[in-house]
Amino acid sequence: MWLLYGNYYPLSSYFEQIRPIRNLCWVFILGYYSIPEEMERGSVIGNIAKDLGLNFRLSDRKARIDTEDDNDQYCNIDLNTGDLLVAERIDRESLCAKKPSCVVQQELVLENPLELHRITIRVNDINDNKPHFKEDLQKIEIRESADKGARFPLDEAHDADIADNSVQGYTLEKNDHFILDVKTKGNGRKYGELVLNKELDREDKHEITLSLTAVDGGSPQRSGTVVIHIIVLDANDNAPVFSQAVYQAILPENSPVESLVITVSASDADEGINGEIVYGFDHISDEKSNMFSLNTTTGEIRVAGSIDFEKESSYELQISAKDDGLGLSSYTKVIINVIDVNDNAPVIELKSLSDPILENVPQGTEVAIINVQDRDSEKNRQVRCSIQLNLPFKLVPSIKNYYSLVTTSGLDRELVSDYNVTIIATDEGSPPLTSSKIIQLTVADVNDNPPLFDEASYSAYVAENIQPGSTLCSVSARDPDWRQNGTVVYSLLPSEVNSSPVSLYVSVNGDTGVIQALKSLDYELFRSFKFRVMARDNGSPPLSSNVTVSVYITDVNDNTPQILYPTSEGNAFKTELVPKATHGGSLVSKVIAVDGDAGQNAWLSYRIIQSTDPGLFTIGLHSGEIRTQRDISESDSMKQNLVVSVNDNGPTPLSATCVVYFLISDDLAEVAEFNHHTEESDSTVTFYLIIALVCVSTFFLTFLVLILSVRFCRSRKPRLLFDGAVAIPSAYLPPHYAEVDGMATLRSAYNYDGYLTTGSRTSDFKFATIPPLCVQDFFLQEDIHLFKCVYFMQNISLTS
Ligand SMILES: *[C@@H]1O[C@H](CO)[C@@H](O)[C@H](O)[C@H]1NC(C)=O
Ligand SMILES: *[C@@H]1O[C@H](CO)[C@@H](O)[C@H](O)[C@H]1NC(C)=O
Ligand SMILES: *[C@@H]1O[C@H](CO)[C@@H](O)[C@H](O)[C@H]1NC(C)=O
Repeated sequence: MWLLYGNYYPLSSYFEQIRPIRNLCWVFILGYYSIPEEMERGSVIGNIAKDLGLNFRLSDRKARIDTEDDNDQYCNIDLNTGDLLVAERIDRESLCAKKPSCVVQQELVLENPLELHRITIRVNDINDNKPHFKEDLQKIEIRESADKGARFPLDEAHDADIADNSVQGYTLEKNDHFILDVKTKGNGRKYGELVLNKELDREDKHEITLSLTAVDGGSPQRSGTVVIHIIVLDANDNAPVFSQAVYQAILPENSPVESLVITVSASDADEGINGEIVYGFDHISDEKSNMFSLNTTTGEIRVAGSIDFEKESSYELQISAKDDGLGLSSYTKVIINVIDVNDNAPVIELKSLSDPILENVPQGTEVAIINVQDRDSEKNRQVRCSIQLNLPFKLVPSIKNYYSLVTTSGLDRELVSDYNVTIIATDEGSPPLTSSKIIQLTVADVNDNPPLFDEASYSAYVAENIQPGSTLCSVSARDPDWRQNGTVVYSLLPSEVNSSPVSLYVSVNGDTGVIQALKSLDYELFRSFKFRVMARDNGSPPLSSNVTVSVYITDVNDNTPQILYPTSEGNAFKTELVPKATHGGSLVSKVIAVDGDAGQNAWLSYRIIQSTDPGLFTIGLHSGEIRTQRDISESDSMKQNLVVSVNDNGPTPLSATCVVYFLISDDLAEVAEFNHHTEESDSTVTFYLIIALVCVSTFFLTFLVLILSVRFCRSRKPRLLFDGAVAIPSAYLPPHYAEVDGMATLRSAYNYDGYLTTGSRTSDFKFATIPPLCVQDFFLQEDIHLFKCVYFMQNISLTS
């Protein structure tokens, strides 16, 4: 035994090898025991009494087990049987850990005498521990980009047992990507390595769970498992992918800024920043990129500028999507079709304009050419043009977008001198847009209007004796034409007044049309006259019109009554013979007076202002007839004188007086005697009377012939009322009484009195109610040109 003790190590290996039969061995080798670990308490290790040859009662010698130093006591001795018993659990792993040989030293102590026996107990390993991993779960992060063959060491499993009972190998759960490579370390311990057999794809499988089992070599075999959690880390191996290769968007023009056009979207299978996509415009002109904005994270394309279909009807944008990692990118195309909106009003352009237009242009003359354009497209550029109604123009569509403005009727500057033609152009968009343009057209004047007098004729009433230079009247004419075409110049047309040129009498102011008298006018010379005034414009050729101006001279009481009978010329006294037997009321004489004036100014009244015997004679107030008031009696004086005053009826009456001498006698001799001093005068009177008688007779005869002949040749002729002719002895009449005038004294439409006088101033005739024309004709026919015909229209009965 001591020997064995000394060869401990070599023996141990021996015991190992013979372990299956070791229970037999300790029979031979005393004091040396080999037992498996973890025997039950009380299990018999061996009979030490026998083995040591102790044939005495152990209790007598107070046998007991003791330990050296402080070693735990693992054994006990059964004092009766001498068996060595297990007293404590013997765990090889805690006693010896990984030592290949594990020996427990115990001592058997005997007293009386004291003996000390060393007991060596070799503890053999049993497979009582399974392989064990430090953690239940092992996490491994592997980037998906890891290449095939990459190795990833795994945690080693531990087994407290030794030798064959320790970890002998590993097995890995079957999987697609990894295989297990088991390696042995220098100290003989084994560990596994994961070998990547097939590349990983995070996007396919982002984590893999495998179980790794470690087995020992004991019997029965024990194993331990660990879960290997492989996290596949992302590698930026995926480029972003757009959802569409081409995006099409429709965008109405003028869409407001910030309107959403389209959203592009790309996806990236990578994760984290490798999958964060940044959108951007790619190779795009500044101009286009100013039009649109792109949200780099959301991919929203929005309007950033003013979209004008007329500038650009479609946009093509290249959009890139980049991930943040390595910057893989992909591209897509966005085609934006801009839709036309009716945002352009038609534009009216005046291409040519004839302004001014002459007012006499023929109908259908082209006045202006207009071009209308609309920048929109299709319906939005269809334009209709019109002008306002009631204008003498119309729009005629011409080639393409051209229109001609032509006249539809004649123009008249004097009616409308300018036109504002409003051209309205409307397109057919919805809502339609309209624009308008005003064309101002001026109508130019043509001298097409003659001056027109305000009145058809002018009359001027002027008092005779007016001052030369006084205004008679004024004429005025209007010409609606323009400037010189409408400037009126007045002039006098040549004519004659009283056989002298009218220009001696009147003048016309060329500018104002005021007519002035150049001479004083004498009513008694002529009572009216006419002339014509021409109004002419300054056009070329000029136009003119004429008007008749009648000047009526009104009478002024400037002539005193003239007494024709009895004449007081020379010293001759006219003595009327009144027969003695004259009865009261008989016409004895008549005062005949005339007045050069007319009307009231010539209305004469006769009064006796002085008489020899105031009661004897009366005078007709207006007739001038002197009649006896009573019968002549013997007592009456033979000579009677009457002073007769003749007054006219003018505003300031003029008068003349004459003296009428009467001789009341039946004897002509007395008259002759009475008139001795006026013989010449008497003989003249007699001579006149004779002449008058002859004239009257001749006249009467001729007149009868005339009546007869007129009866024959005229079916209708004025009735001649011939009441008889009364010869009025008188002095001569003023020659200018031979005047026919409607303005004569005391007008009468039906009665004409004719005074006929021979140029020899010896005889006067008066015919009542003879139409003046007939009388005139008559005298002309009879070639009695010596006579002058004097017509006085009188409604009072003169002496008959
Ligand atoms: C035309 O328009 C002008 C300016 O707007 C104006 O002075 C003129 O009176 C107008 N003419 C007509 C005929 O309306
Ligand atoms: C007057 O009329 C003529 C044609 O008759 C024309 O040529 C001229 O221009 C007109 N004058 C003015 C001032 O309008
Ligand atoms: C006016 O009278 C003049 C001279 O007699 C003549 O030449 C002209 O034609 C007349 N004008 C008209 C409009 O009658």
